[in-house]
Amino acid sequence: MALEKSFVLFPLLALLLLVVGWAQPSLGKESPAMKFQRQHMDPGSSSSSNLNYCNQMMTYRNMTRDRCKPVNTFVHEPLEEVQAVCLQGSITCKNGQLNCHKSGSSMHITDCRLKGGSKYPKCEYRATTKMSYIIVACEGKPYVPVHFDASVDVSS
Ligand SMILES: *[C@@H]1O[C@H](CO)[C@@H](O)[C@H](O)[C@H]1NC(C)=O
Repeated sequence: MALEKSFVLFPLLALLLLVVGWAQPSLGKESPAMKFQRQHMDPGSSSSSNLNYCNQMMTYRNMTRDRCKPVNTFVHEPLEEVQAVCLQGSITCKNGQLNCHKSGSSMHITDCRLKGGSKYPKCEYRATTKMSYIIVACEGKPYVPVHFDASVDVSS
């Protein structure tokens, strides 16, 4: 009797452990929305005063750990305003997906671009600060930015 019960309980327990094991990594893992914030959001500052902005931020935001990420944009606007870009009409992303959205107004951004001679692990960036419309891809519930697709200069 006790043996029979354990034949039922053991597979159940194994299944439970499997489910918990699956759920666990997703608890610690960074969501696409969080990744977007780490890589692209810097509401507090506008980099203009600091020549080292990109070198510091690319390192601090973990984009120079395994390699030098070649190009990255930081947005210096409140998170709510960047998230609100997802409410704009859909446009086609560079990769052909249809979940991109362009901001209705221009935003303070800093483009970080790897300098020509720069080699990992010494990642050196050139910073360009400007006002641009931004294009982001949005996903999920809530529908929030998960990818920075492009910036469009105000003058163009
Ligand atoms: C960068 O990575 C380290 C180690 O994985 C982590 O502790 C830290 O929180 C990360 N920094 C950011 C800004 O996500």
